[in-house]
This record gives sequence, C-alpha cells and structure tokens, in this order.
Amino acid sequence: PARLVVLVSGSGSNLQALLDAAADPAYGAEIVAVGADRADILGLARAEKAGVPTFVVKVADFADRAAWDRALADAVAAYTPDLVVSAGFMKILGPEFLRRYDERTLNTHPALLPSFPGAHGVRDALAYGAKVTGCTVHFVDAGVDTGPIVAQGVVAVEPDDDADGGEALHERIKTVERSLLVDIVGRLAREGYRIEARKVRFGS
Ligand code: GAR
Repeated sequence: PARLVVLVSGSGSNLQALLDAAADPAYGAEIVAVGADRADILGLARAEKAGVPTFVVKVADFADRAAWDRALADAVAAYTPDLVVSAGFMKILGPEFLRRYDERTLNTHPALLPSFPGAHGVRDALAYGAKVTGCTVHFVDAGVDTGPIVAQGVVAVEPDDDADGGEALHERIKTVERSLLVDIVGRLAREGYRIEARKVRFGS
C-alpha cells in the first residue's frame, strides 16, 4: 500500500475518515504517521486511538519559519511517505517542504478554488453572497491554495446559513469533503497519477 502522512491542526474529522477507509487493506493506502503544528488536539487523539504514530512540530520552537519548515519536512521524511495529506493543517507549507514533497502533497480546502482561498474559505464565501460553494482537493504548490486541482464537490448555500456564521454550512461541506478526500486519496494510491500542465491524470 501507499504510505501516507497526514497533517492536522484541529478536530481531524477528515483524518478519521482516512483512518476508517485505510482499515480496509483493499483501500491501497496506509496512514504511517500523523503530524501536527500543536499538541492536545482531537486529531492527534484520533491517531493515537488508531495506533498510528504522531509527531508535533511547533513554529514557536524554531528560530524562524524556514527552520520550522525544514524540521517539519524532516519529521515527515522519517516515515518515508508516498503522499502527504494536509487535512485541516492551518499552516502554509514552506519552500523546503515543497521541494522535497513536490507533487506529493495534497490539501483539502473548504471552498471551490480558485474562489475563496486562505484560512476562511467558508466565511468568505458566505460573506460574498455565493449561492454555491464546496470543497477542493488539490496538490500543494508554492502559492496559497493555488496548486493543481484533483477534484471538487459542490454544496448549496442556504438562506439561513448566515445565522450561525457558517458553522452549519461548514458541516455540510465537511460531509462532502470527507468522502471526496477518501475517494481521491484511494484512487491516487491505487492507480498512480501524473500532473501535466496543471491537469492531474490517474494511471501510470
Ligand atoms: C476542513 O474543512 C478543511 O477543508 C479546512 O479545515 C477543516 C478541517 O476539519 N481547512 C482549511 O480551511 C485550510 N485552509 P477537520 O480537522 O475536522 O478535518
């Protein structure tokens, strides 16, 4: 099976979906480690419960962002992954990380890119008045949420989504996002892929 390292910063519900899927050997990928930029988060607890090794690399423990980036890349490299999945990891991966994991790092984003990139994809779509939004699974490049798109899922914005600042909308997005991410990671792992002129094609 393909070796996956998953990076998280929070609740880790996408991670949980991957852990559940990977429990079936036919899935074609195994989660060999889970990394985070902070301790004491539900995502790490989920990994521990599943018996998956974890590591934490905090920005505050390093002299600068470049040193943190290198340490994160080293921590990931210790598990020799085929794919890295940023699943609710709320830090920008730096140049050294991307040099080492170019075309091997996936991110999931809670909006239909290239609309509403950044840390507040759900809130920004709602504030803009978008009527549809969703999620995007893409490869990570040097920009913020600009890399080659693998797949997207669409979610309708409902009139009362404004009432709770986007919480219910985000939950509906996450339902679509989890199954999209599980599907895409499994296909990439089982079928292989190549990226040409931003187009991701399955198969070897
Ligand atoms: C997901 O919706 C993910 O797309 C989003 O955080 C959530 C994490 O949920 N990521 C970003 O906004 C990245 N800019 P989870 O921790 O329950 O998987």
